Amino acid sequence: MQTFSSPAKINLFLRIIKRRPDGYHELASLLQAISLTDTLKLALADEDHLTCNDQTIPTDHSNLIFKAADLFRRKTGKKFGLKVHLEKRIPHQAGLGGGSGNAATTLWALNQLWHQPASETDLAIWSSEIGSDIPFFFTQGTAYCTGRGEIMREVAIPESNMWIVKPSQGLSTPEVYRNLDVSTLELRDPEHYLKDVISGNHSYFNDLEMPALRLFPALAQFKNKLISFGFHTVVMTGSGSAFFCIGDATPPPMDGVFSAPISFLKRASGAWY
Ligand code: C5P
Repeated sequence: MQTFSSPAKINLFLRIIKRRPDGYHELASLLQAISLTDTLKLALADEDHLTCNDQTIPTDHSNLIFKAADLFRRKTGKKFGLKVHLEKRIPHQAGLGGGSGNAATTLWALNQLWHQPASETDLAIWSSEIGSDIPFFFTQGTAYCTGRGEIMREVAIPESNMWIVKPSQGLSTPEVYRNLDVSTLELRDPEHYLKDVISGNHSYFNDLEMPALRLFPALAQFKNKLISFGFHTVVMTGSGSAFFCIGDATPPPMDGVFSAPISFLKRASGAWY
């Protein structure tokens, strides 16, 4: 078995531009890979088989790990089974892209195990067929993403230490998007926010926060509680329900609440995280 680290991501800002005719949304988001990771142990085998330390994760072919393996088989014509053990640490229904990272890591690992039939660019382009957030993981860890999320521009931003905090209740991405009324959003210019973050300001926001709070009203109280601990910036990531929190504070232990200190993660071209 070979071991690969599978990182989470946060959306430092997430601007939703409009709903597209295909049902997806046009967005502009600054994504950052973070030091909160799952571990994947993989080996080629006769049959597909997935085990996971977390019993709430599906281990059948609905798991993005197998969707990634199917995609790799389809694109390369290779025939194989895949044995995987997934050690989950990234909470799900959190907006942290844990499943997307697992899919990207599987594609990367398979390409290594098969002696690189595909380039990193191929893997990134293929991966958008199975999820909007997956191509990002083939960047070097910081990228301004537009379109459905698959058009990526690498950027360099200053390091920042944060806490990730998630309440016990999670949120479903399609449900949050269904609750979004694009006509009520503030017309922020994402390029302006991008420049601001590059120059060291914490200009973070998330257009999905409002629909998430509507769907799950207790989330507003949760956010206020995080602010009361002394964090000066508390912003939801992706479609929630996790927040990233910045400031001179430490969240106290809370029943059912996940919290972890994180730093930004970088990837060198030709290597994985
Ligand atoms: O692409 P992915 O499977 O991750 O998307 C999950 C859901 O999130 C989609 O079915 C859609 O409801 C919503 N979504 C969207 N616009 C995007 C990305 C995701 O509406 N750019």
